[in-house]
Amino acid sequence: MSTTELGVGLISVGWMGKLHSRSYDRVNYHYPELGLRPRLIIAADVLAEQRDFARDALGYEQVTGDWREVVAHPGVQAVSITAPNYLHREIASAVAAAGKHFWIEKPVGRTTDDAVAVADAAEAAGVRTAVGFNYRHAPSVAHARDLITTGQLGRITHVRGRFLNDYAAEPNGALSWRFQRDRAGLGVLGDLMTHAVDLLQYLLGPITDVSALTSIMIPERPLPGAGPSTHFAVIEGGPTAPVENEDYAAGLLRFAGGPVGTVEASRVTVGPRCQIGFEIYGTEGSVAWDFERMNELAVCLGRGGPDHGYRTVLAGPGHGEYARFQPGPAISMSYDDLKVVEAALFLKSIETGEQLAPSVAEALTASHVVATMARSAENGGWLPVPAAVPAGAGR
Ligand SMILES: NC(=O)c1ccc[n+]([C@@H]2O[C@H](COP(=O)([O-])OP(=O)(O)OC[C@H]3O[C@@H](n4cnc5c(N)ncnc54)[C@H](O)[C@@H]3O)[C@@H](O)[C@H]2O)c1
Repeated sequence: MSTTELGVGLISVGWMGKLHSRSYDRVNYHYPELGLRPRLIIAADVLAEQRDFARDALGYEQVTGDWREVVAHPGVQAVSITAPNYLHREIASAVAAAGKHFWIEKPVGRTTDDAVAVADAAEAAGVRTAVGFNYRHAPSVAHARDLITTGQLGRITHVRGRFLNDYAAEPNGALSWRFQRDRAGLGVLGDLMTHAVDLLQYLLGPITDVSALTSIMIPERPLPGAGPSTHFAVIEGGPTAPVENEDYAAGLLRFAGGPVGTVEASRVTVGPRCQIGFEIYGTEGSVAWDFERMNELAVCLGRGGPDHGYRTVLAGPGHGEYARFQPGPAISMSYDDLKVVEAALFLKSIETGEQLAPSVAEALTASHVVATMARSAENGGWLPVPAAVPAGAGR
């Protein structure tokens, strides 16, 4: 079918900026029916080596050190905002004011105020958005959602959610922007818990009340040197500075429809490496999923019989977007593939005018939950989550 070019701009060429760019490259191959074909016009980063990479490896036609040039570029109709959290609000507000659609990374700002400002700007401009809640797009998560929404698990009674990660388990890991309040906002609550909360809300609906605790487990880290030093950089010796936001958070949850449960997030686990997952229990069955085994879903249907218990269902063409990537079952999909699904939802949202991708309004609901958890952690008391709006409403 004929396609129209969609001029794309990128703001920040870090881990996520590179991944967004690869997804634009791949999206028409996996979704040939799309009426839009991304053209990589201009990328911005403050670091020369990232700009060089954007031009030479990613194929952007132009590069700049000033993100405002991306926003102002007449050939750009859609912008990927993959900058650190402290820039989300200013950049997204400018992009929306310019009437351009945007795909922004979670958590959408440092605070709920930032997320409100971004959601309001998108609404006022009438632009389509996408947010990097990529774990939603795993085919096994889609299968779990189908089992829940079709009632095959019965009434959902309780849940255990988690995101246990080791990216900051190394005490000499550099004190990147993620550990500083003025640049990241919350710690693991903003960074990883937002993913876990979004996944739970996507599967079970809004979280209405929380009680939480938080802890900083590695209180000092080495200061980074010059250059693109991420939290993966290990620095021996040299000056250190305090970690300003939480390494660990745990919460008790109540959902609007009646389920209750727990959720936990850590960036300092030794053992679990990237375990975002859930175990969801209903009166007629249960499902369990762990991103470290992304293509497997543990499913138990029914309450009796000699073979009662979990069995492993491998992802296959009947599950979510799997068939876009592989023709037969049990051929592993990857993290990068989830981002291609997200790119497709973003482009389809622009093409049809219908918000299909996870939206900034949904990111705002996750932001309210984690902000309420942070407030609750001051004394552990129960607090209601303000303005809970059903997640998944855009899908
Ligand atoms: N969806 C996910 O699974 C996921 C995973 C990782 C990160 N993220 C999110 O993506 C965002 C970026 O994280 P990352 O890991 O890619 O960060 P990163 O540290 O790898 O890269 C950040 C980049 O921003 C650039 N930058 C800094 N200031 C800038 C400015 N003023 N103008 C232009 N560029 C500037 C840096 O030079 C660097 O290249 C964060 O909001 C993070 O929460 C999401």
